[in-house]
Order: sequence, then structure tokens, then C-alpha cells
Amino acid sequence: MTAIALLGAQWGDEGKGKATDLLGEKVDYVVRYQGGNNAGHTVVIGDQKYALHLLPSGILSPGVIPVIGNGVVIDPSVLFEEIKGLNERGIDTSRLKISTNAHLITPYHRTIDKVSERFLGKSKIGTTGRGIGPAYADKINRIGIRIQDLFDPSILKQKVEGALRDKNQILIKVFNRKGLEIDDVVNEYLGYAELLKPFVTDTSLLLNKALDQGKNILLEGSQGTLLDVDHGTYPFVTSSNPTAGGACTGSGIGPTRISRVIGIVKAYTTRVGSGPFPTELFDEDGEKLRSIGGEVGVTTGRARRCGWYDALIARYAVRVNGLTDFFLTKLDVLTGWEKIPVCVAYEIDGKRVEELPASQSDFHHAKPIYEFLPGWNEDISKAKSLDQLPANAKAYVKYLEEISGAPVSAVGVGPERDQTISVRELI
Ligand code: GDP
Ligand code: IMO
Ligand code: MG
Repeated sequence: MTAIALLGAQWGDEGKGKATDLLGEKVDYVVRYQGGNNAGHTVVIGDQKYALHLLPSGILSPGVIPVIGNGVVIDPSVLFEEIKGLNERGIDTSRLKISTNAHLITPYHRTIDKVSERFLGKSKIGTTGRGIGPAYADKINRIGIRIQDLFDPSILKQKVEGALRDKNQILIKVFNRKGLEIDDVVNEYLGYAELLKPFVTDTSLLLNKALDQGKNILLEGSQGTLLDVDHGTYPFVTSSNPTAGGACTGSGIGPTRISRVIGIVKAYTTRVGSGPFPTELFDEDGEKLRSIGGEVGVTTGRARRCGWYDALIARYAVRVNGLTDFFLTKLDVLTGWEKIPVCVAYEIDGKRVEELPASQSDFHHAKPIYEFLPGWNEDISKAKSLDQLPANAKAYVKYLEEISGAPVSAVGVGPERDQTISVRELI
């Protein structure tokens, strides 16, 4: 009947996995529309914890068809490892559908990602090293390899040859590395063809037909608004479009079929990798957020940078995504502070600014201006409604809603599915 997009409103790791898993129970399809195995989405069901990288979070709900859309870049070795890991834990993955147009990450993308980061030295982006940027660069450069190429060995060989002609020169002459053998890459990837075949289909057609038949679709974003290659803190971004427009291009569903866009936002802020972050904390509050919030990367194991909630970022996410709702996560992590700072504006070169600056240099100079809200000490992890929250916690949620520009429709008070306060129905 409708498609709903669910995406990160900050710099990723907002809790998209949990939110998708929760809402995914009510839909027929869950679709990943961009990114690759740079993502790390955690889903906790009872005493089981799952870390998903490439597979849509809907894979864990038996009634849901999980789909990897055309906008995703797929590293087949990672895909099959992930499938194997879930099968070993008794999860059926046979419902998975993969777009014939999705691009492939190959060994040369991974190598180039790592060596080019090393060469950037102090200016490095801090990528996940999974080959994401180089694979998307090839896609835009029209020399990428798509899933469908695996089913035509001569085309595959031609394309790998074409891609390696330049890349081997760069690897050898610029980066002082070994080149790759065309046949090694072709043979490895032909080996994946048979394994992939049962999953591969025209996912745009599948999804549009499903909508025609009255089914519900959840479009699951990876990363977050400020990591978007167009709307994020460029160049410290990922190489795809996690924002709402990407949900259309990455799935083949038109914008008129999306009825709701839900922004997942943490009650504070985190970031992994390099780049500006105005509310970042370098003191014991930052350490406390990191340890209470368990802020360690699911994909790379890196400690996440932590800071206070930034309303300018939330408002920006409303603007560039057309958010209809916020799903506020990790409110429980803020239990135990006497006062909680919330960034309501920046000071940039002596001036007060209330919208995210369009200039990256300004963003680098931005100093947060805080309002201080009274904290709470009570355990909120079992709260089932806003009224069951301590008055100050409820006031914090209401304040964020007021200054962020979209209604808060759900509040996370713990990592488990049922540790969620539903303020209004999202599906
Ligand atoms: P994603 O990349 O957006 O899916 O987020 P990650 O899974 O990388 O990081 C979010 C972390 O927060 C995971 O460990 C989740 O289990 C956890 N989480 C999600 N929602 C909540 C919540 O409301 N409270 C707490 N304490 N943890 C949460
Ligand atoms: P989820 O889906 C947080 C960051 C990297 C780096 C930048 C570019 O779990 O929210 P890339 O490997 O994509 O070229 O790296 O983007 N990054 C993420 N940060 N969560 C993620 O995914 C991320 N995926 C990429 O740390 O700064
Ligand atoms: Mg994550």
C-alpha cells in the first residue's frame, strides 16, 4: 500500500537496525537502498544479538522479504559470510532478493580504499576500508561491475580487464603495490555467480508490483544524513546518498509512493572517522556517553566520538529529507546527568547562527551554544509511555521535538525491541 523510508538523521549509528527490526515486523518487504558493508546495524532480540552489515534488518523477521536494492554495493565474500553466519544460528535467508543492477565491490576496490587512505595521511577520511568509495567511483565513472555481469563470463572478463588496466597502473606506479591478475578476479567472481543466482531479480519491478498489490515496504537507510555525499560534511562522508532521495534512486520506487520519512536520531550525537563535529566532547562526559552508550563501531570496532544533541543537525535532517517523524533513540543513556546540554545554535566568527552553515569552513569553526536542561536519575528502561518517564526526561523529549522541527513518534529506552515508547503509530 505504501513505502516508508527510515534513515539516519546524524552521522550514522543512530539505532537504525533496532528501529527497522521493530517496524519491519509490520511490513512485507525491507529494502536496503545504498551503502554496503560499511554499515553495522545491531538488532537485539531476547538474549540474541545480531550485527548486520549488508543484509537488510528484515532478514530476522520470518514474514518479511528482505531486498538489497540497486543502490547498494555488494562484496560477495562478505554477503556469503553473513548469510552463513545467520544460517548457523538457525535464521532462514532464502527469502533474500538482490537487484540485478547492484554494483560489486572487488578486491581492487578494497586495496585502493586502504592505500589511498594511507596516502592521505592527516587528511584521511577514516573510511571503513571496505572498498565502498572506490566501488561507487567506478559506478559513476561507468566502469563498475554489476551483479548481472556475473552471468555473462565474457562480459565479466572484458569489464574486469577494462577496470584493471588503469587500476594496476595506479597500484603499481602510484602506490607501489602489486597489481592484480585479471583471471584471479574473474574466476573468484564467476564462483559467486551460481551462489547468487537464486536471489537475483529485477527488484524495482518486484517492489512496484508489491505496492500495486497493497503491500507495505520499509526502505532502510545506512549511514546518516551528514554522511551523505551531497548533503553531508563533504569530503568527510560516505560515497552514496543515505538521504530520502537515495531511497528512491536506490530502490527504483518513485517519490510519490513514499508516504512517510522517519529520521532516526540519538538523544545525543556520535560520529566515527574524521570531520567536523561541533558538539564533540573531549572530557569525562564524552567518556561517560561512550561507555554507558556502548559507543564502539559494529563494523570496525573503533571508539565512536561522542557529543551532545545538536538541534541544527536535526533541523537540517528534517529539511533535506522531508522528515515526517523522528524516532528518538538511546534516551536511557542520558540517565544520571544533573544537567543535559542541548545545542540550539552555533557561534561562527562571533555571530549566532541557527541553521547548519552551507560553507564547510564555517562548519569547522562552529562553536556550540547550549541550553541546559535538568536531568533525571530514575531508571527509564521499562517505561512504556511518555507519562511513565520522569518529568525531566519527558520534558527533554518535548524540548527536542520543539526545536528539531518534526514530531517525536517513538522513543528508545534500551536496545531491545520492546524497550520502545510508541507515541504514535508509525505504520
Ligand atoms: P545503526 O547503525 O544505526 O543500526 O546503529 P548501531 O547498531 O551501529 O548502533 C546503535 C547501538 O545502540 C546498538 O548497539 C543498539 O543495540 C543500541 N540501541 C539502539 N536503540 C537503543 C536504545 O534506545 N537504548 C540503548 N541503550 N541502546 C540502543
Ligand atoms: P551505519 O549504517 C557510522 C563513516 C566512516 C567514515 C566515512 C566514510 O552503521 O550507521 P566509507 O567506508 O563509507 O567510505 O567511510 O563514513 N561510516 C559510518 N559511520 N556508521 C556507519 O554505518 C558508517 N558507514 C560509514 O567511519 O568516516
Ligand atoms: Mg552502525
